[in-house]
Amino acid sequence: MIDFRCDYKGLISDEELNERVALTRQFVARAQQDGFGGWVDLPVNYDRDEFARIKSAAAQINADSDYLICVGIGGSYLGHRAVIEALGGERGRTKILYAGNSLSARELEKVVKQLGAADFSVNVISKSGTTTEPAVAFRTFKKLLIDKYGEEAAAKRIYATTDANKGALHDEAVAKGYTTFVVPDNIGGRYSVLTGVGLLAIAVAGIDIDRLMDGAEEERTALISDGGKAAEYAVLRNVMLEKGYNIEVLANFEPSFMYFNEWWKQLFGESEGKEGKGIFPASVIYSTDLHSMGQYMQEGRRALFETFVEIAGDYAGVTVPGSAENLDGLQYLEGRELDSICKVAAQATREAHAAGGVPVTQITMPNIDERSLGALIYFFEMACALSAFTLGVNPFNQPGVEAYKTRMFELLGKPGYNN
Ligand code: PA5
Repeated sequence: MIDFRCDYKGLISDEELNERVALTRQFVARAQQDGFGGWVDLPVNYDRDEFARIKSAAAQINADSDYLICVGIGGSYLGHRAVIEALGGERGRTKILYAGNSLSARELEKVVKQLGAADFSVNVISKSGTTTEPAVAFRTFKKLLIDKYGEEAAAKRIYATTDANKGALHDEAVAKGYTTFVVPDNIGGRYSVLTGVGLLAIAVAGIDIDRLMDGAEEERTALISDGGKAAEYAVLRNVMLEKGYNIEVLANFEPSFMYFNEWWKQLFGESEGKEGKGIFPASVIYSTDLHSMGQYMQEGRRALFETFVEIAGDYAGVTVPGSAENLDGLQYLEGRELDSICKVAAQATREAHAAGGVPVTQITMPNIDERSLGALIYFFEMACALSAFTLGVNPFNQPGVEAYKTRMFELLGKPGYNN
């Protein structure tokens, strides 16, 4: 289960906090009833048949492919990349390459080069099927598949995760006979990691998706009646904002959490940043970034608060080696577990930043494993929905994302756009 703590003294009284948390707890029912609230009950209410099909597709891909190219952008790729990287990467034969998450020609070329002559399959993930970035990449890899295997065999290597009934990708998948998985109508992209959107790639990586769902279910049990600790976090985020702290920095001490941070930024940024409102979500990986961003965190403009994601369990087996000479003065750490040193660094950072005027909140997960990650994902999804409702915005839409697309289509001369 996920724990949340915050030293809120000086920001809000106990009485006011309790009142506000009680109000926020009511939003759990609202999230559940919303047309995009399918994620709330997902851990107990997912499509078991599709789940089994995901596992057998993952086994097939590991049997016939050195690489799986995951084509998707935003909510269609960040979640599974976050989980796979946080858990240390692919464990089986098939390695995952990501494409269609930018319009960089250099990046696309790099993936094609890395692929070389290896056997591969493609998982194209797009609700609409018309998002420019993945659509361009899908064309590229589809052509490579057809050139390598021929039309019929290529179609067997394409796994399309898209709308159940409509859209360009759905129609193509039906026409060409691709294996398909569903982006559910009632779950938005950034809430979709525990659906076919995220689970195929995660299963291909050899990660136990049953345990991931178990972790999410466990956390749902903890939060479903009243939001639990997620409601407290949601309220305190809004208290910070009202006090002028309008930037939240998510801080991790594990470099493998870089994409988890990216997923978190999309979740909160796209859910809350609208109608001129919202906390700007930023992230750091410590202690690495203490040597680049640490100065700002300690002494820069006091508009940010920090949320530390910490791991309760210990990672044993990596110790500081002994040295007869002690030229580096490290003798006092000889034989000590590196993980315990990292935990001390985390405590020191929290204390130093708090003393420097940065309000600190702390989220603790039991360990870095499937269950804990499933729980953490669910915790943040719930906290984000409750926080957005508290802020007074709809957590599940993203009207602002269209503006750049419209202008880009005008400039590119897409039919139907003014140019
Ligand atoms: O969270 C979201 O809704 C977005 O990030 C979408 O997932 C992203 O824009 C990709 O859209 P689509 O799945 O239609 O290609």
